[in-house]
Amino acid sequence: MEISAVVMAAGKSTRMKSKHSKVVFQVSGKAIIQWVSDALFDAGCKDQVYIVGETQAEIRSILGENVAYVLQEEQRGTGHAVMQAAPFLEGRDGLTIVLPGDCPMVSAETITKALNAFESVDGNCAAILITAEADDPTGYGRIVRDKDGNVLKIVEHKDCTEEELKIREINSSMYVFKTPLLLSALGRIGANNAQKEYYLTDTIGILIGDGYKVGAVVCDFDDTRGINDRIQLAQVQAIMNRRIIERHMKNGVTIIDPASTWIHHAVEIGQDTTILPGTTLMGNTVIGSDCIIGENTRIDCSEIGDETTIDNSIVTGSRVGKDCRIGPFSHIRPDCVIDDQVTIGAYVEVKASVIGAHTRARHLTYIGDSKVGKNVNFGCGTVTCNFDGQDKVGCTIEDNVFIGGNSNIVSAVVLGKDSYIAAGSTITNDVEPLALGIGRSKQVNRPNWVAEKARMRGQNYIVLDDRRSEF
Ligand code: UD1
Ligand code: MG
Repeated sequence: MEISAVVMAAGKSTRMKSKHSKVVFQVSGKAIIQWVSDALFDAGCKDQVYIVGETQAEIRSILGENVAYVLQEEQRGTGHAVMQAAPFLEGRDGLTIVLPGDCPMVSAETITKALNAFESVDGNCAAILITAEADDPTGYGRIVRDKDGNVLKIVEHKDCTEEELKIREINSSMYVFKTPLLLSALGRIGANNAQKEYYLTDTIGILIGDGYKVGAVVCDFDDTRGINDRIQLAQVQAIMNRRIIERHMKNGVTIIDPASTWIHHAVEIGQDTTILPGTTLMGNTVIGSDCIIGENTRIDCSEIGDETTIDNSIVTGSRVGKDCRIGPFSHIRPDCVIDDQVTIGAYVEVKASVIGAHTRARHLTYIGDSKVGKNVNFGCGTVTCNFDGQDKVGCTIEDNVFIGGNSNIVSAVVLGKDSYIAAGSTITNDVEPLALGIGRSKQVNRPNWVAEKARMRGQNYIVLDDRRSEF
């Protein structure tokens, strides 16, 4: 059977108060319109046409060239929008799925249910509506049925009578039509209504008037939610996030506080990992098993090995190995590859560097653009000076190097294997393996200097047990 899809995405998104189309806003790491397109592809519908308006460029840049586009120059309603797809649909038999572009909760399952419902409605069924019972149906089109429960028509909120306003079954704006009948009904709708628009919803009454039947699949209201403003965006985001989190919990991940944990749709997490409050896991992040992540941690497009702990830190575009200790307050910037059992501690920043196994940078250190071997010790306050004002060049620090506290390792030196850097050094030349590098001025002690200074001020300096009584 020939199945086509028309997605309406040309609206002005007035209620969003944005320069962008509402359908390009992200929900759980994926653009709203991409959720819709993925659901259609997952339901087996490859023939998709998008009705776009002045924001077409940003929609095209998300969906690419696997789908077709039709420009609706003037937004004259949902019926007018689908009419623009007529050249695409003409001559086709089979079914057409019509979806709004603003409903990221639509699933392949819902679409498949509607496609299958066609066969279950006896007689000459022209369309299947996807509907839901809303606690508060304000703003939605209402499904009007006869006393036997047959669908009669859809009435927009603004056009409802007192009686119709009481109906809680709403139109989700998702439909499946027999393609030739959709085209025939679209040719006959008018704009004689409260909004002076061509309503797609009017096609239902027209088809029933023609003697056809219209069926309905009643879904969970949450699966049909549309996004018209930023309040609905936050509501849908919370529902989607809750679903993603529940999927992970069912897979064996402990999530202490679902309300403060945000996980993008593509993230993978291994068994027995615990996610602590205030954590955001983004992009295609993969977290191993038996990890502890959080509190207050953001991991974006990164891979984290098993048994690793990341506390109050940010990791972006990097790979962290097994059994590592990251944080608190570490910043792992893009392009780091950190091997197993590494410690990156408090206020340590690492960028575009390779760090060998068992290496430790426990406090207040910066490692940039560098290649660091195994079992290296960074003393507190070590800085790889990787920027000469023009280029970023790192250093090479070989296995087992010990760097004393408060040292500067100026690019692009090589610290040879097993070498030792004295605390407080500024190292500007290579240090050969097994050597001690000292790059600081020699200490000088001046005996009796304090008392001398007092004498020069004409004072007599007396050493007391309790010095404070003197000053
Ligand atoms: C629509 C339905 C309503 C339903 C509700 C569900 C109509 C007349 N009403 O109302 O019954 O309960 O959805 O959310 O269909 N669009 C265009 N071109 C236009 C107008 C709209 O492409 O000229 C697109 C919008 O970008 C949007 C979709 O169509 O993605 C729906 O439009 P919207 O304005 O959100 O319709 P609702 O008022 O929500
Ligand atoms: Mg809407």
